[in-house]
Amino acid sequence: MTKLAISLFLLHLISLPFTRAGLYTAFSTTGHIPFSDTTLPVDWSAKLKVDVTVNSFASSAQLFRPEVDTGTCGFLFASKDLSDWNPATEALETNKGWQFLSSSDLLYTGHWVTRDLYFNPRSSTTRTRSTVPILAVTKKVKCSSYNVALDNDTCPTAPEWTDTNPSVRLMGIGFGRELDGQPQGTPDKNAFINIQSIAGQSMGSHIQGYTIDSNGINVGLTDANTLGMTFQDLPARNPNPPVSRIPTVPRDWASLRSNCISFNDGISCHSGEVLLDTGIGNSSMRVPLGVTIPRDATTKVLNDGAIVKVNLGDLPLVVERFVAGTGAATTVTPDFAFAYNSDRGNFFNTGRHVYRAWRTAFDSVNGRFGMVAV
Ligand SMILES: *[C@@H]1O[C@H](CO)[C@@H](O)[C@H](O)[C@H]1NC(C)=O
Ligand SMILES: *[C@@H]1O[C@H](CO)[C@@H](O)[C@H](O)[C@H]1NC(C)=O
Repeated sequence: MTKLAISLFLLHLISLPFTRAGLYTAFSTTGHIPFSDTTLPVDWSAKLKVDVTVNSFASSAQLFRPEVDTGTCGFLFASKDLSDWNPATEALETNKGWQFLSSSDLLYTGHWVTRDLYFNPRSSTTRTRSTVPILAVTKKVKCSSYNVALDNDTCPTAPEWTDTNPSVRLMGIGFGRELDGQPQGTPDKNAFINIQSIAGQSMGSHIQGYTIDSNGINVGLTDANTLGMTFQDLPARNPNPPVSRIPTVPRDWASLRSNCISFNDGISCHSGEVLLDTGIGNSSMRVPLGVTIPRDATTKVLNDGAIVKVNLGDLPLVVERFVAGTGAATTVTPDFAFAYNSDRGNFFNTGRHVYRAWRTAFDSVNGRFGMVAV
């Protein structure tokens, strides 16, 4: 297999007419959750984790280090590690849960159970509590026949393998992921937009949202932590009334749009959705059936020289442009760039290396996504 080297040679920030200064002047309650088990700032070449304890912040409470993943929504947590997991009262038909991770064809099943999560658990001055249903996972199967439009908690054919004692710790903090195998990945499951207290204090003037940068996560948007950012409205999921921006499920926003996803320097653009995914080092693109893609027929990896140009946002917020195979590991260089034909809707997953160039913000209340060059 040819490893694809992509070098970024254009970072392009375009100011938008509706950019407003002082969007978050009214809000001041914020907290910082650093990436753990690594050197800060991170270089985005490896998975990112945060420290968390479950239902207790006592020094005896076991510390966990889940990966932080904007490509999923919900805390997937091995039930065997959940000290107070009680299958008799908690494994009920009514709270059955599952998530399918399309990038790896893994189907996780278990039950949603509500827990207090403590980030920065060992520090009384930064301890941050979030209360959310987490998925107590009891089974993991590899299921490449899974159809996200049809299948729920069951693989439609015999799985490639089954693990009934899985180890999983994935802190899914994304939005708009419901149609990609995570119908239960609704905003109530996102730990970083359901913050209940910081340093033991109730939330005061806090707006539920977060920023991501090379040092970690800031929960609660403020003018300071969104300084210089350009914001774009996200579409509502299932708006009601239909022409409104009012999602049926509160704060349920769809993915960031793109008016140009291309592998030929924007000569032919495919509009669709983009995902700035902290969870994966590879990028991946979907374009319509019948479009000829310059790629290796077997591996689906784009050919050297293909120019990937994607507008992040539909105005756009920023434009990302790569040349496949130029070899320089500068900034936004996914490990491998895959491209597929699909009738599922056009899509571009940047992979985590995009965060080398931009800081981002997600405002869950107003449904806005912000970006600024690092
Ligand atoms: C998945 O769940 C939905 C909603 O309950 C149901 O309509 C559908 O038939 C289910 N799919 C399968 C394959 O069972
Ligand atoms: C990225 O792609 C490479 C090449 O196919 C593969 O070995 C690796 O497992 C992929 N990474 C992830 C996280 O899927």
